[in-house]
Amino acid sequence: MKLITAVVRPERLAQVKAALFRAGVTGITINRVSGHGGEVELQEHYRGRTVVLEFREKVRLEMAVSEPFVEPTIKAILTSARTGHVGDGKIFVQPLERVIRIRTGEVDTAAVTAVTADAVQKQALKEAKL
Ligand SMILES: Nc1ncnc2c1ncn2[C@@H]1O[C@H](COP(=O)(O)OP(=O)(O)OP(=O)(O)O)[C@@H](O)[C@H]1O
Ligand SMILES: [Mg+2]
Repeated sequence: MKLITAVVRPERLAQVKAALFRAGVTGITINRVSGHGGEVELQEHYRGRTVVLEFREKVRLEMAVSEPFVEPTIKAILTSARTGHVGDGKIFVQPLERVIRIRTGEVDTAAVTAVTADAVQKQALKEAKL
């Protein structure tokens, strides 16, 4: 299992969510964050130059996924979040030791995304028709 954290542009969030859904990723936590990604702006002043570190609005997504979902999740984020300009964001992948579903006590892969993308989409379509 891995914990995938992605920082993306807020204006790409809708596309990222759609791509993740298509990849079968169903458990996501989203935060609006301020981030700095290395861009430095220089301001000219009377006695020299001041470096200004600008913080930009970003969205951070966190997804705990089982191994088969790691590469599809990364691919979905890359294709949906990329504009090709600086500030597109980053993806961090960390090993994940334990996951517990509180309702059932299920652990690890049974507690994260446990069904295939196909099953997720079929279920969503079924619910949309109700
Ligand atoms: N090393 C890092 N650690 C933590 N957060 C980071 C790191 N790098 C980037 N971020 C987060 O990602 C956001 C977007 O970063 P950004 O896309 O500018 O990364 P970058 O490595 O500078 O790539 P680029 O060259 O495309 O700008 C930042 O605002 C910050 O929230
Ligand atoms: Mg940057």
